[in-house]
Amino acid sequence: MNLKFEIKNNIAWAILNRPKKLNALNPAVYEELDKILAKVELNREIRALVITGDERAFAAGADIEHMAEGSVRDVCEFTDQGMRIQDRLCNLPIPTIAAISGYCFGGGLELALCCDFRIAGDNALLGLPEISLGIIPGGGGTQRLPRIVGKNKALKMIMTGKPEDANKALEIGLVDEVVDKNALFESVSTFVNMIIKQPAMALRAAKIAVNNSSSTSLQQGIQMEKDLFCMLFGTADQKEGMKSFLEKRKPDFKGE
Ligand code: COA
Repeated sequence: MNLKFEIKNNIAWAILNRPKKLNALNPAVYEELDKILAKVELNREIRALVITGDERAFAAGADIEHMAEGSVRDVCEFTDQGMRIQDRLCNLPIPTIAAISGYCFGGGLELALCCDFRIAGDNALLGLPEISLGIIPGGGGTQRLPRIVGKNKALKMIMTGKPEDANKALEIGLVDEVVDKNALFESVSTFVNMIIKQPAMALRAAKIAVNNSSSTSLQQGIQMEKDLFCMLFGTADQKEGMKSFLEKRKPDFKGE
């Protein structure tokens, strides 16, 4: 098994489990991750997904051994597989979090960039070292990274291949929080619980609206936001949210 999967208190944890290869991503890892994403999509009890690795590595990139002698076709098939998984992950309607300890390189960072949030242990190192292998990032790195940290910071990371440590990653907006590496999972759980106590349909609408903001015109984005806003008035949780405010009590959201 290249990944472990657990559900605890409505949070699903997908744990990369190839420690001898620093969780390098190969077709078997992707296949297992794809199956996990399918399970997460179908289970309504799951309110958030955390992807993580072990203390030494989130993932040290795509598997170089697998790619080294690959033909153009082999590599295209591998990157297509990665892209399908990334699309599936990006489109999950629940919050997704990459909990990052140690190395988060190449395809590992590209996977983390598909999550809504990145929380790093203070031992994390994040980078896109592909340039030193004679290639460029092939899993969305040249597209998603500049959208998150800006063109020049992304280009610097991609062209130098030099990783950033956790604090620098926080400074440039590549990660959202840096926490004690020994308390990473606890900190991530606290962070996730702060979000999932909010009503599920509103969370879903917020994610769709914000995630589409960089690929629509401002006018189309505002129209989409307005439609999602109005749609939420058809949910029980909107009625409960506003009623509980007027009755000066805590809301009891049902996710409906
Ligand atoms: N693909 C395949 N195997 C990898 C790997 C990768 N991306 N990253 C690490 N490994 C393997 C190593 O080959 C080694 O295997 P071995 O024990 O069978 O020889 C094992 O994982 C441990 O790695 P090692 O290099 O010995 O650990 P380290 O602590 O000295 O260095 C890194 C860690 C992350 C700095 C180094 O492994 C590295 O640079 N990895 C490649 C990162 C990269 O270029 N990623 C982008 C790929 S497109």
